[in-house]
Order: sequence, then structure tokens, then C-alpha cells
Amino acid sequence: MAEKDFINKLILGDNLAVLQSIPDKSVDLIYLDPPFFSNRTYEVIWGDDGEKRSFEDRFAGGIDHYISWLKVRVRQMHRILKDTGSIFLHCDWHANAEIKVDILNKIFGRNNFRNEIIWHYYNKLPDTRKGVFTRGTDTIFWYVKNHNAEYCFNPLVEKRENPVKQLMRKKVDGKAINARDDKGNLMYQIREDKLVDNVWRISMLQPADKKERIGYPTQKPETLLQRIIECTTNEGDVVLDPFVGGGTTVAVADRLNRKWIGIDQSVMAIKVTDLRMKKRQNMLFSQPYEVILPTFDFKKLQETDGKEFEIWIVDKFGGIPNEKGGKDLGIDGHTQYGTPIQVKKWKKPVGRDTLDAFLSAIERDDKTLFARNKKEGQICGFIIGFEFSKDIINAVAQLKNKENIIIELKYIRDIIPYDNPPKVTLTAEELEDLKYKFEATTESETGVDFFSWDLSHDEKEFKADVVMDKIGVQEKKFTEGEHHIAVQAVDKKGLSGTDKVKITVKRKKEK
Ligand SMILES: C[S@@+](CC[C@H](N)C(=O)[O-])C[C@H]1O[C@@H](n2cnc3c(N)ncnc32)[C@H](O)[C@@H]1O
Repeated sequence: MAEKDFINKLILGDNLAVLQSIPDKSVDLIYLDPPFFSNRTYEVIWGDDGEKRSFEDRFAGGIDHYISWLKVRVRQMHRILKDTGSIFLHCDWHANAEIKVDILNKIFGRNNFRNEIIWHYYNKLPDTRKGVFTRGTDTIFWYVKNHNAEYCFNPLVEKRENPVKQLMRKKVDGKAINARDDKGNLMYQIREDKLVDNVWRISMLQPADKKERIGYPTQKPETLLQRIIECTTNEGDVVLDPFVGGGTTVAVADRLNRKWIGIDQSVMAIKVTDLRMKKRQNMLFSQPYEVILPTFDFKKLQETDGKEFEIWIVDKFGGIPNEKGGKDLGIDGHTQYGTPIQVKKWKKPVGRDTLDAFLSAIERDDKTLFARNKKEGQICGFIIGFEFSKDIINAVAQLKNKENIIIELKYIRDIIPYDNPPKVTLTAEELEDLKYKFEATTESETGVDFFSWDLSHDEKEFKADVVMDKIGVQEKKFTEGEHHIAVQAVDKKGLSGTDKVKITVKRKKEK
């Protein structure tokens, strides 16, 4: 993929594989908040299969295993950072010593270390049971790719908790001296703000932070990411979070008019971030974005415009598609060696008549090439489809045996993986006056991971107000009138199916 192909994308997958395909020197800032070495709790709460597996693998080998797991990834991050770029690695006491010495100093170099930022979440509840002081800090290491390059640093200012009275200073002949008034008295000023230092006092998210909190167990506060993004990037720069979780980095980057890339291997993380970004659409600076799943949605593939689909599949097959809008005369593209390709998007199996039409088309297309391929026993053409009927399969075999014409039938599932999204049925039941219960039942090939609900659906866009529901049941009290409710079921591969119901709510008459 070219550099621009990654911009404003949410990508589901192991970040190592994704990072390996991002071009060199293409990103301005990387913030990573990997699962902490110790972080059993959230992974257990989460119960995401992929995440649990990778966690158990890492943990089984102890700290050394964790460090090598992270190191290969940081090496990729170093490669894709621009020379003027910065990395912020978020960790805590469990592994911060090893991360600094064994990963960051080795890959980025000691000279490129800028700061050890201490995030002090002063609102953590005290815990004296462990026989130690309550741990109320995380460490964020800031390294630049090259301290000699003009890396971005925009100093930040914060409000002082207690304004201070300071002596006023002035410069005389290049020297700073205390300022005095006409009568020779020293002059003072009240300073309400100060330059931000490396101790960042920012509260951790609490259940009461309803506006920002989406419920992702390790979600970080937006203020923290805002500082990191503002101090080391400018508008239009590219920010990458390879462990995007609940999407804090990309949501803040979007708000601050930066481009962004988010990666996570958990379906839940990608979907939660997707819903978070959907809510941002139409807000100031919000940019269009795309979710990239390794598995394509069969239903959506079927709904794509025919020509677009043909061009896309030929490209995925490694061929050269015919010009958009041009007449294809029965041929949708060619391989690098000029062999014709025909694509059929039909749900029904591609039949014998397609083969007959294709044979005339390839002869018309390049008579000499056709004759040469036939003579040399090379492939004369490819037909790409979802399914093929028995009669075309037999006819292709006969053509080869009797006339030495080889036509290869290619299944789309061998070019791109796809699956059926879950089927969802939503029912509504009136429980009591104004109160309703909604239940989603599903049919899914891979199993449903979780449900999201839009309990005040506007009939246009799905905007989740309940993001992570494992069961598929919701209850809500409504006002009188018509209401629309939508549910989305997300399967283990990240494919989703939706259903909606309309209810007309009427207050029951007093008895
Ligand atoms: C600590 S959380 C990130 C939280 C995030 N900063 C936020 O504000 O919501 C770590 C994330 O890393 C993801 N993760 C773990 N291993 C991964 C891997 N190999 N590739 C991609 N994501 C991974 C987990 O699924 C999890 O969502």
C-alpha cells in the first residue's frame, strides 16, 4: 500500500504485520500504549480471544519475552517515523526500566531521549493493602528520531493551581535585572500560568466522565493525548497509534486536524473506535475515514457498483484493470503479461454462456497473443467469480483437452477473504408504562462478539449510545411518541449486521 493508503484508516490486525507494510519515514508522531507487562485484569475482563491468546503467550515467557515482543514492533516504528518525528511510549513500573534500556536506548539511541513524562493521576483511590504507597503514576518516554533534525516542539502552558507573586524582570544592556517603579520600589506580577514540565497532573477517567468515557477498560484521557499531539505535531501531520484500544489518540488527532492511523488486533477495540469516530463525523475538522478488516463483508461486496468491483478485483489479482468508464468489450483487465481477465460479480454461479462470450472477446482482443498462448499451452484467459456452474467447469476441461485452450477459473475467495455478516433480528416488548425491552437474536457463521445499540436512532446514521453489550438485551423508558431503535451485532471477524424497529409509545390510561 502506498503511504496515502494508510491515512485515516482503522486497521484490524496484529500491528507487527501492519507496521511492516507502512512505508519508511511516513509518520510524524507515534504514541503507543501497549498492554502492560502485568496487565492481567483488563485482558481477562475483556475476554477477547485474540488478545487473550497473545497475552498468555507473552506472559508465559516472562519479562524477556515481553521485551522481545515489543522490541520488534518498536523497530518498525523507528523505520516508519520521519527524521523529524517523535515517539511516546506509555508504560508503568512493571517494565519501564527494561523498556528504556533494552528497547528505546538501543533502537532510538540515548542521544534522542527527550523526556520521561510522569503522568500523575492524582485521583486514584488509595490502596494500602499491598504494603506499599499507592501507585499513582505512569511513565511516558519521549524520544525523537534524530535530535539534530528540526523536530517539532511546541512548548505548552498550563494554569497554576495557586497563582504566584513573582518579581518582575527587565533587560538592560542584554542583562536581566529586577524591574523597579519610579520610586525605586521592586515591581511584582501575579503569574497564573506556567510552562508545562515533565510531571503531568491529569486525572484518570472516572465512571462520572460520561461524555468522554466509552467504557474501554484501559482508555486514556483525551487531555493526555492532546498534550502529546499538540507539543510534537502541527495541523496536517500524521499521528499513528499501533495499540489504538478505545481510540483516544485518533479521536484527539482528528479533533486537532491531524491525519491519523489506528491499529488494534481486537475486534472490540476497532469497533468501539469506529463508533467513537462516527459520532465525531460532521464535527469541526472531522475527516472521512475507513475501517480495514482482513475479512470482507460478502453482502457489501455484492452491493458495490459493478464496474468499481471489477477494477478492484483485477487490481487485487495483480492485474491491470481497464480504464474506468471505458467499454470493456467483455474484458475487464489484463495480467502483466497481457492475458485477458473477466470478472463476474454475480451471486449465482457463472455459467457456460460467459465462457463462450469470453472466448470470442479474447480472440478479438489480441489474436496473435491468443494463438501464441494456445500453441505454447499457456493460459489464454482468466474468469474470476464467486461460484462456477458444473457446465462451465466441464467446458473449460474439454477446451483444454480438445483444443489446447486454457481458461482458468478463479474463485474470488482465493483472491480476497470474505464472509457473510451476522443476521440480526430485533424484537421489542412493552414491559410497563413507557418502558420497553429489546432483544437481538442472531445467526452468525463465526459467532457474535458483542452488540451496540442506537436507542434514539435518527433513521439515517447508526450512532451508538450503548457500545459494548455482550448479551444483546436492552431496556429503556421512553417519552410518548414514535421512536426508532437500531442494533448492530459484530462477529469475531469484525463484520456487522444491523436491524431496526419502530415503536409507538403511548401512556396507559389511569385506571
Ligand atoms: C492499553 S490498550 C490501549 C488503550 C488506548 N490507549 C485507549 O486510550 O483506549 C492496549 C491495546 O493494545 C491492543 N493490542 C495488544 N496486542 C496487540 C497487537 N499485537 N497488535 C495490535 N494491537 C494489540 C489490545 O487489543 C488493546 O486494545
